[in-house]
Amino acid sequence: MGPLSAPPCTQHITWKGLLLTASLLNFWNLPITAQVTIEALPPKVSEGKDVLLLVHNLPQNLAGYIWYKGQLMDLYHYITSYVVDGQINIYGPAYTGRETVYSNASLLIQNVTREDAGSYTLHIIKRGDRTRGVTGYFTFNLYLETPKPSISSSNLNPREAMEAVILTCDPAASDTSYLWWMNGQSLPMTHRLQLSKTNRTLFIFGVTKYIAGPYECEIRNPVSASHSDPVTLNLLLKLPKPYITINNSKPRENKDVLAFTCEPKSENYTYIWWLNGQSLPVSPRVKRPIENRILILPSVTRNETGPYECEIRDRDGGMRSDPVTLNVLYGPDLPSIYPSFTYYRSGENLYLSCFAESNPPAEYFWTINGKFQQSGQKLSIPQITTKHRGLYTCSVRNSATGKESSKSMTVEVSAPSGIGRLPLLNPI
Ligand SMILES: *[C@@H]1O[C@H](CO)[C@@H](O)[C@H](O)[C@H]1NC(C)=O
Ligand SMILES: *[C@@H]1O[C@H](CO)[C@@H](O)[C@H](O)[C@H]1NC(C)=O
Ligand SMILES: *[C@@H]1O[C@H](CO)[C@@H](O)[C@H](O)[C@H]1NC(C)=O
Ligand SMILES: *[C@@H]1O[C@H](CO)[C@@H](O)[C@H](O)[C@H]1NC(C)=O
Ligand SMILES: *[C@@H]1O[C@H](CO)[C@@H](O)[C@H](O)[C@H]1NC(C)=O
Ligand SMILES: *[C@@H]1O[C@H](CO)[C@@H](O)[C@H](O)[C@H]1NC(C)=O
Repeated sequence: MGPLSAPPCTQHITWKGLLLTASLLNFWNLPITAQVTIEALPPKVSEGKDVLLLVHNLPQNLAGYIWYKGQLMDLYHYITSYVVDGQINIYGPAYTGRETVYSNASLLIQNVTREDAGSYTLHIIKRGDRTRGVTGYFTFNLYLETPKPSISSSNLNPREAMEAVILTCDPAASDTSYLWWMNGQSLPMTHRLQLSKTNRTLFIFGVTKYIAGPYECEIRNPVSASHSDPVTLNLLLKLPKPYITINNSKPRENKDVLAFTCEPKSENYTYIWWLNGQSLPVSPRVKRPIENRILILPSVTRNETGPYECEIRDRDGGMRSDPVTLNVLYGPDLPSIYPSFTYYRSGENLYLSCFAESNPPAEYFWTINGKFQQSGQKLSIPQITTKHRGLYTCSVRNSATGKESSKSMTVEVSAPSGIGRLPLLNPI
């Protein structure tokens, strides 16, 4: 949109024009004595309206004026200028098509946008000869009427005392201060409420009913202030952290019936069970009386130690217990004896070791031909002789499960060399 009443002669800026302006206007250096002031009319302007930057007490005998957006007086910020001789208007890169400079230096800005807020610099050039010219710079800050702010919330339904909420006062604007109210008063001093550096954002840590609001925010600049509508947070009932009780802390594999109970009990919750992080599927093996709060495992194996978790849910969300891992007692399984070769030469050392899967670890003992030899997992007989031939048995026992098992092997010992040693009786 162009200027309302264009001066008789206007032209868009060209490098030639700029240089002309510079050489015409920029060579006077005497101080300006008059008190030039600038005023916005109306003082509060809202977006889409027009504002006139009225210049008062303009000195006499001027050569021209230049308006810049901001405080830097360079080509990039050059909006428009007026050259008294010839009543010429010149336009620069910062000209948006909505500015008009009048012969009395006042600047009209039409259809104001938010980007128009901020500072303007008026450069006044007094008429004089090349060595006795006068220039002066005057800065003015244009504020727009603040729009009605609104509060946005990261979460309007926080869990009581459990969730943090971030309230933001919109819109974001520079040259603006933000203020907050809770229950119609300024914010109370509490570690649960913290403001961002600009005060635009309010962090509420662990919302309780005392700090659920209503909240209001205000944005303010030197010419106006506006207030948001109140926002109150809707607190959801706090969920307790559930926990699991088990009626047998050391179940025996494939033997004990286990009952898991999820606490606390409330008709307000539904209960969900998890095994290894996966929702426990409904299976005929697993019974769940009392609304799923109790889980009955008719038997358990060593591979089903967990972790088990239970979750309570209400219609707004859920909360899980700490995981529980079972200590399943099992074994001993059938033991193994190492090494498994059974032929020795007289004079060799025999070292045997026995192992059986078991929880808790099994007790071990060895017999040779049915006679108790020693307890422990390892059996060693240095410098074996033919007297040590026989049936070697490793027996294992788990007193926690009450189970026993054993494994036997026949050990042959060959006679010393020269005394009837059988050929080909080498270890396999
Ligand atoms: C300057 O001119 C404009 C437009 O004619 C007028 O509205 C304004 O009042 C004038 N300013 C002064 C200070 O007289
Ligand atoms: C003001 O500016 C807006 C957006 O640039 C435009 O849509 C509108 O038509 C303009 N109004 C006038 C009266 O020029
Ligand atoms: C933020 O608000 C506090 C008072 O609540 C005030 O002292 C401070 O100056 C404000 N900061 C800004 C950047 O407006
Ligand atoms: C645990 O509960 C189950 C199911 O009610 C029951 O069969 C079992 O005997 C209980 N075990 C113990 C050690 O109480
Ligand atoms: C169940 O919810 C109701 C309201 O929804 C509440 O008043 C009551 O205290 C809750 N009961 C328990 C055991 O949490
Ligand atoms: C446990 O799992 C392993 C490997 O998945 C399997 O070989 C073994 O048979 C299982 N044992 C029992 C007692 O289920």
